[in-house]
Amino acid sequence: MNLPEHMTAVSIAEPGGPEVLTPCTSPVPQPGPAEVLIRVAAAGINGPDLAQRRGLYAPPPGASPLPGLEVAGDIVAMGEAVTGFARGDEVMALTNGGGYAEYVAVPFGQVLPLPDKWSLAEAAVLPETWFTITQTLVMRAGLEPGMHVLVHGGAGGIGGAAIQICSIIGAHAIAVVSDTDKASYCDRLGSIATIDRTRENIVDRVMALTDGHGADRVVDLIGGALAAVNIAASARGGHIVQVSTLEGATANVPLRTMMARDLTLSGSTLRPQTAATKAAIAAHIRDNFLASLSAPGWIKPEITTFRLAEAARAHAEMESRRHRGKLILLTPFGAAEPAS
Ligand SMILES: NC(=O)c1ccc[n+]([C@@H]2O[C@H](COP(=O)([O-])OP(=O)(O)OC[C@H]3O[C@@H](n4cnc5c(N)ncnc54)[C@H](OP(=O)(O)O)[C@@H]3O)[C@@H](O)[C@H]2O)c1
Repeated sequence: MNLPEHMTAVSIAEPGGPEVLTPCTSPVPQPGPAEVLIRVAAAGINGPDLAQRRGLYAPPPGASPLPGLEVAGDIVAMGEAVTGFARGDEVMALTNGGGYAEYVAVPFGQVLPLPDKWSLAEAAVLPETWFTITQTLVMRAGLEPGMHVLVHGGAGGIGGAAIQICSIIGAHAIAVVSDTDKASYCDRLGSIATIDRTRENIVDRVMALTDGHGADRVVDLIGGALAAVNIAASARGGHIVQVSTLEGATANVPLRTMMARDLTLSGSTLRPQTAATKAAIAAHIRDNFLASLSAPGWIKPEITTFRLAEAARAHAEMESRRHRGKLILLTPFGAAEPAS
């Protein structure tokens, strides 16, 4: 295939609101020795993209300054050290940035085959959130069958991934939401119960749902005042996984309760992890979760679609917090999929 020299991408003109996302012309990236070049059909939108756009989450050294941490598409070129993939393969991938574009180069260890019966648009929404939850909740916090897991932001991208990974492993996700539509969505994804944070007491409900045991694991992206709530809701030996701090980067926490209950609080950001760590997470997903995604009756995340040039509108929609599931950008190569 003859590749063009230039492509359409979306850049961040300056830190700011959604309007700073600007369609631009950019050179088509050259894949390094251990990279594949993916012709992007769809790019998922994630919370970290919003933070990067606001100037709060700088790309790590060497990473593309263009936003976009996950894509699905077909491989059109590759470096000589790549194994296990061929030109023409349809794949999904965790990028190091640059996903809001028609082409992106990705280390092959971060690339996964599409689950059976998934379209490129559907698969584009998986990598960022599934890598994050696999690394934190599964590989670090040791999620096990039968555990109760309190999942904040259950109807969002991270929350949905946590609920579905719990259901694959046989753990019981209790999802925190803000309305009944989001509660029904979480139930469809596999949560055993939901808590409406606008009118219910989270600790009381967790204790009632677990016969006073508490949550064995917590996935939190809110922080601030919720840190103390998470500790109060935790079971002895519990582990709180902090993946964001949407409502407060600092917190007052009852340290004595943490000690008495033998609790662990861990935090992590995915993007600066090494290529080896990302490849290990990809391998875990491929070996343990991919087959379940193709099982009959599997519920795919809800998707709201936009064209690549509509990235600003898509970010504004995400910030409105109306969505359930994920938002994606379709390039002309994914144009067969309907945009909303
Ligand atoms: N650590 C990492 O490596 C990593 C990786 C990916 C994402 N993240 C972070 O995780 C967070 C969630 O990302 P996402 O892609 O899942 O976003 P999302 O799809 O917008 O989901 C966020 C969910 O949290 C709920 N929420 C509660 N309070 C909120 C608040 N103050 N602001 C925004 N949402 C709030 C929202 O629903 P209701 O408002 O209805 O409750 C929404 O369902 C982001 O901050 C992102 O940067 C971290």
